[in-house]
Amino acid sequence: MANAAGPGNGECARLWLPAPRHNLAAMTPDIAQIDYHAAQALLEWQMELGADEAIGEVPVNRYEVAVQAPKPAPAMQAPVVEDTVDPVAVAKEAAAGATGLETLATIQAGYDHCELKKGARNFVFADGNPQARVLILGEAPGRDEDIEGRPFVGRAGQLLDRMFAAIGLSRTAHHPEEALYITNVMPWRPPQNRDPEPAEIAMMLPFVKRHVEFVNPDVIVLMGNTSCFAALGRKGILRLRGTWAEAFGKPAMPMTHPAYLLRNTAAKREAWADLLEIKAKLENPR
Ligand code: URA
Repeated sequence: MANAAGPGNGECARLWLPAPRHNLAAMTPDIAQIDYHAAQALLEWQMELGADEAIGEVPVNRYEVAVQAPKPAPAMQAPVVEDTVDPVAVAKEAAAGATGLETLATIQAGYDHCELKKGARNFVFADGNPQARVLILGEAPGRDEDIEGRPFVGRAGQLLDRMFAAIGLSRTAHHPEEALYITNVMPWRPPQNRDPEPAEIAMMLPFVKRHVEFVNPDVIVLMGNTSCFAALGRKGILRLRGTWAEAFGKPAMPMTHPAYLLRNTAAKREAWADLLEIKAKLENPR
């Protein structure tokens, strides 16, 4: 308790307790005249009643105290550390250090600036044959892909396999002419399968570019809006689909995502037309 003087210095304990806590001031007898032992007994009594803070006889004006308080010496002040890390620049430098698909996967898996990594079970890099002439660029892993660590293994992935089998392409094929290579813009599953945000896509773009460089496909299929946004800087898949574009220096065909086709079966007819376009391009690259 503040202002509680010890024996022999001629003063008595003086207490002040604010009304909202325990209105002990009202209950406390005038102790200015009582001796040390009586004051100590009073203190103990107040503590038994729940008084738990040493305060003075009158309220302290903390604003005045703050003005009068000595400033800490400069050496005591915590240094201001500015966060100057540019996650995209870090990604560019990291991706440039890759010498092939294996080192790219290791380097990308170790990239720590994307928050999505923290919530994901697995790093989902790619599947299929890296010799394939066709590279499919999907959006991001969903629940099944996150569990298995491979892209397009859920219902949408099964539809994707059937679609490409219809034009003679498969992720398990050994011959490059019949093979598929599948990867995603984002290797970590976003929470609740939300779309990756533009800042998250920007961080992954240097890795995607390097990925395409190493696979060096003849044709890229951009599956859905996130892939179009990452590769072309544009969204609006229902307008973009079916028309050849250029992505990472390669012919690119935007297509509606198989997850969309599962919900909108009428759109399968257009998807079939897009598949035939891809087949024609492979047979007759202009
Ligand atoms: N959708 C995608 O775009 N990618 C996957 O890997 C799975 C679902």
